[in-house]
Amino acid sequence: MTMPKTVLITGASSGIGRALALEYAKSGAKVAMVARRRELLDALAEEVRAAGGEPLVLVADVTQSENVHNAVTDAIAAFGGLDMVIANAGVGGTKHAKDLSWGFSEKMIDANVNGAIATLTAAIPHMVKRGSGHLVGVSSLAGIRALPNSAVYSASKAALSTFLEAIRIDLRKSGVNVTDVQPGFVTTPMTDKNKFKMPFKWPVEKAAKVITERLQKVPSVIAFPWPLVTALRIARLLPDALYERIVGGADPRGVL
Ligand SMILES: NC(=O)c1ccc[n+]([C@@H]2O[C@H](COP(=O)([O-])OP(=O)(O)OC[C@H]3O[C@@H](n4cnc5c(N)ncnc54)[C@H](OP(=O)(O)O)[C@@H]3O)[C@@H](O)[C@H]2O)c1
Repeated sequence: MTMPKTVLITGASSGIGRALALEYAKSGAKVAMVARRRELLDALAEEVRAAGGEPLVLVADVTQSENVHNAVTDAIAAFGGLDMVIANAGVGGTKHAKDLSWGFSEKMIDANVNGAIATLTAAIPHMVKRGSGHLVGVSSLAGIRALPNSAVYSASKAALSTFLEAIRIDLRKSGVNVTDVQPGFVTTPMTDKNKFKMPFKWPVEKAAKVITERLQKVPSVIAFPWPLVTALRIARLLPDALYERIVGGADPRGVL
């Protein structure tokens, strides 16, 4: 597969989404950029244009399903279709179980689960009708196994990964592909807040380059960096009691 000619990216105002928008701009794509902060999207639109892409700014809150639906519909109308939709918008944050509140949890689930599912489901009918398209969700290595102080974040990313796997199964013969992107630590405003050590942290430009290159091969999952991926995949095979003893005694690594 080649690079998409038309792509919609949520959470494009910052971090990974922003870097993905610039990568696709370099290949001359039409890039619809969704987020709440218009001033950041407007500034990015200039950069996308300078890099050779055609920008479309769509201000939307992904936790409002009607906003998301309108953004996807507007992008389809403006570009004459969408080859790829990347549900990347999300929020991070660590909290010990004893400090959890519903307010904290609801915000995270609304953005990371409801927002991502609203984005992808808004695009499915269009892609199925065309018989082609690529749906992408940015989940996390934190969804592979629960991490300390990350109950809601890990659960939100596990939910998204399971959703992506399920729609991949359902859409198998439709011509629509589905990829689950599971990053490790990437330098963005989200991780800039973290006070703990973040092993194998990647610069955001490297993450965006690797994601866009690997997406061309349409894999089911893109996970990086390999040392963390390997450790977490082995952890998935460990008996629960052993895993809980190991991570319960380790330094909290927090949000991936
Ligand atoms: N950085 C990492 O180490 C890492 C690792 C694994 C997975 N991830 C995942 O990668 C994705 C991007 O994270 P990032 O590190 O690039 O974080 P970031 O720099 O904080 O960017 C988050 C983006 O999501 C948007 N967003 C958040 N809530 C939104 C809402 N309700 N409606 C619309 N847009 C919303 C923000 O835009 P506005 O505020 O302008 O709306 C922003 O553009 C997230 O899903 C995150 O969980 C990140």
